[in-house]
Amino acid sequence: HILETNELDVIHEIPLYRPFVEKWAQVESFQARPDDLLISTYPKSGTTWISEIVDMIYNDGDEEKCKRDAIFNRVPFMEMSCPGLRKQLAVMPLPRLVKTHLPVQLLPVSFWEQDCKMIYLARNAKDVAVSYYHFYQMAKIHPDPGTWDEFLGKFMAGKVAYGSWYDHVKGWWEKKKAYRILYMFYEDMKKDPKREIEKVLQFLGKDLKEEVVNKILHHTSFQEMKKNRTANYEMMPAWAMDHSVSPFMRKGMSGDWKNYFTVAQNEIFDAHYKEQMKGSTFRCQMEI
Ligand code: PPS
Repeated sequence: HILETNELDVIHEIPLYRPFVEKWAQVESFQARPDDLLISTYPKSGTTWISEIVDMIYNDGDEEKCKRDAIFNRVPFMEMSCPGLRKQLAVMPLPRLVKTHLPVQLLPVSFWEQDCKMIYLARNAKDVAVSYYHFYQMAKIHPDPGTWDEFLGKFMAGKVAYGSWYDHVKGWWEKKKAYRILYMFYEDMKKDPKREIEKVLQFLGKDLKEEVVNKILHHTSFQEMKKNRTANYEMMPAWAMDHSVSPFMRKGMSGDWKNYFTVAQNEIFDAHYKEQMKGSTFRCQMEI
């Protein structure tokens, strides 16, 4: 039972959920199709948001079609190698949407071999840390996060599921030079979601009427997704997620970190951030 396995194991130096590590051979041998679209993120960076947007695009803005199933079935989680997911992947309509949180070096090679298109979505590290802290408490697969201060320390040290945020965003940032990766930012999506949806359309070579784009915009707003059972994770079994501890659709804003970081934590974080990101051309809005 998942509640008995809420320890992190380590695979290729990355802390990861034990059930995923136990089936690692299956993950490594994952067979991507050339028409797969991979949605890749560090956890809590807006995966569900971009997934809903792309599913709406794939279904030409048909909201009812996008309510056919829960988001975690419409966009299966690649490294979750349970039999149900294998089945899901086998029967889903083509082309497939696939989600991963894996750091770039752990992505199954077939995705590179098939030259799949990929969308990477990054979110500023401070908001990710706050969102992750709440997720650790509500999603039962996680170990106890401890206090906020303890969790922040673990996050900075990369001792959380999926490892270092810094390495994750930098790794995918480098890879986009050689592969078909659209690298996006949560903060840009908050600021001008329409412009960002247009970017996705262009990347996918899709042309949709303005009224359809507006429909997508409406359907994928935080308020709409929060009340949509097929998007807000309320269809997850109660033993896996407890929304009364913290809803999956928590706040959906940029800058919530200011409500959590103390002045001292912020100073330490900024200095550490600078050190971690030294030499990288990666920039995100937190730094402005
Ligand atoms: S997961 O579990 O890693 O797949 O989570 P992920 O979907 O990446 O991230 C969850 C956070 O994204 C917020 N969210 C949104 N923000 C703005 N607009 C929309 N439509 C939206 N949908 C989800 C969600 O609220 C989580 O962030 P926090 O800061 O915790 O609210």
